[in-house]
Amino acid sequence: MQDSIRCVPSEICQVMKTMSSSLVIDAESSYPVANRKLKEWVNELKALCQPDKVYWCDGSQEEFERLCGEMVSAGTLIKLNSEKRPNSFLARSDISDVARVEDRTFICSRNEEDAGPNNNWMSPTEAKQTLTGLFSGCMRGRTMYVIPFSMGPLGSKISHIGVEVSDSPYVAASMKIMTRMGKAVVESLGADGDFVPCLHSVGSPLAPGATDVSWPCNRDHKYICHFPETREIWSFGSGYGGNALLGKKCFALRIASNMAREEGWLAEHMLILGIESPEGDKKYIAAAFPSACGKTNLAMLVPPAALKGWKVTTIGDDIAWIKPGADGRLYAINPEAGYFGVAPGTSDKTNPNAMATMRENCIFTNVALTPDGDVWWEGATDSQPAQLTDWQGNSWTPGCGRPAAHPNARFTVPANQCPSLDPQWDDPKGVPISAFVFGGRRATTIPLVTEAFNWNNGVYMAATMGSETTAAAAGKVGEVRRDPMAMLPFCGYHMGDYFDHWLQMGRAVSSPPHIFCVNWFRLDEKGKFLWPGFGENMRILQWMFKRVAGESGAQQTELGWIPRYADIDWSGLDSVTREQFEALMKVDSQQWQAELELQSELFEKLKDRLPKELVFMKELLQLGLNR
Ligand code: GTP
Ligand code: SPV
Ligand code: MN
Repeated sequence: MQDSIRCVPSEICQVMKTMSSSLVIDAESSYPVANRKLKEWVNELKALCQPDKVYWCDGSQEEFERLCGEMVSAGTLIKLNSEKRPNSFLARSDISDVARVEDRTFICSRNEEDAGPNNNWMSPTEAKQTLTGLFSGCMRGRTMYVIPFSMGPLGSKISHIGVEVSDSPYVAASMKIMTRMGKAVVESLGADGDFVPCLHSVGSPLAPGATDVSWPCNRDHKYICHFPETREIWSFGSGYGGNALLGKKCFALRIASNMAREEGWLAEHMLILGIESPEGDKKYIAAAFPSACGKTNLAMLVPPAALKGWKVTTIGDDIAWIKPGADGRLYAINPEAGYFGVAPGTSDKTNPNAMATMRENCIFTNVALTPDGDVWWEGATDSQPAQLTDWQGNSWTPGCGRPAAHPNARFTVPANQCPSLDPQWDDPKGVPISAFVFGGRRATTIPLVTEAFNWNNGVYMAATMGSETTAAAAGKVGEVRRDPMAMLPFCGYHMGDYFDHWLQMGRAVSSPPHIFCVNWFRLDEKGKFLWPGFGENMRILQWMFKRVAGESGAQQTELGWIPRYADIDWSGLDSVTREQFEALMKVDSQQWQAELELQSELFEKLKDRLPKELVFMKELLQLGLNR
């Protein structure tokens, strides 16, 4: 053999070499891998992390079922009752690993100033040194899963490809639901296609012969690191949600916001929905609300029956990639293929479409288990079951003083199971956006709805938005913080530059969307919600739709345009009186003085790179309120 090879002319040798590096099936993969960067990277990681095995995910349904079966045998997943919840599973996380960890999330830009005061910063050199130490040997005793995925329809010009390498089969199975994942992605990369490398480990190597825990993670060391210049993600120590499913917040928001700024588009924490009028006119809106503040609910809204002929359809519930089209409008796609939604509070009353979506093929995390092998969470039904197993695996009865489900318990489910899914939901061109909506969770101060006077005024309103913190991130719940565009934890660069980018995007298109602000969460003196919310939010969407169409009236105030009582369609809703509406819309000057002071704190923090247009807008508002 040796001799015969020596006799082969050099051109043939070259061909054979190319074949061995591009066409031959990778030793550990069941399908050919031609991409050089991908093969080299996986080989490097194999040497660094020292897994027992490497497994290349092909993305098939058969593979999903096999992975879930293996996790059931290992005790990571519990199979739910096949009649009540076909092909569905329950995962219980470690009690220390239940939400995104914002204080352990880092933007590792070369210059600290580029990360901005809105991010934790670490130098790329220090981050790589520290994490190389932690990743070294971290997958011993485990399988390394190679998970190729596309954010957005495969092959679309606006989509981007990532490859996550993870030692968590729960991550591999979840990525199958949340993204277009598998072999076809590797094929589309060819020999030289580029991808965002996403490295993930739960950070819990297994000693030989040791038994595993059901939710391995690292209680002492967690790092969620982003390298914006080299477009890489390294995540260590957590297996939960946005910390571990790296296509989501890490790629589609923190890295993509950097790409978007360079390339002239927007990567936003927004749902996308379609509104169809009885006349068959259709408009799309994109809405930003902070985590656990109502995006999934609004995206899947069922309009009240009394608003005859009005329909809502769903494009996405968490992330929007938005690009200028040749016609001067902004077009949005949902880069995801599934929903990772908050379970508590979701019911047939609040969100029947979400309930129908999760009837099968669902992975639930940290919800409660019923005696007949189904799931339950706070708010799922009017009455509480007599007996449950709580999210930590302990026996639970009503009145025991503990929640049955964790407040950040979630369902992971394919988007194509959603009854309200829009026919255009995976159109590679995206859908034209007529309005942007921004909303926070605010007990006081912020009216039910306002419309900005113009683009710059709308950017100012969105940039200065505040919201009460929720269980979606580890830390205190219920504190008001500034959360510009609902992107505080997700903007991968300096927030001042981000505001400037938003201002520029309005100038880059000839028909920028209208901008609205909403607050579904205003309370009365007794602490009760003033607004019924959920399906009734349709009345506000309907007003917006008509404003965009130039068909609805409004009144000018210092904050912007607002609807008068008569501008809203109240058919079939008696519970909101005129007085209650006035209370929902009230601008209290004392509360607004305090609000402007909080805005000043934000502006002070960002002052090095704060666009002057926003300072001007704030001064105008101050003058208006003083009048
Ligand atoms: P992430 O997935 O974390 O980004 O959150 P999300 O914005 O999709 O949150 P989701 O729609 O799951 O909101 C969850 C919480 O908001 C639950 O507690 C709901 O009950 C509450 N919620 C949603 N819509 C409304 C509403 O119109 N009114 C009121 N009062 N609560 C609402
Ligand atoms: C959020 O926190 O905004 C989420 C859930 O959508 S996670 O994927 O964990 O970020
Ligand atoms: Mn979110």
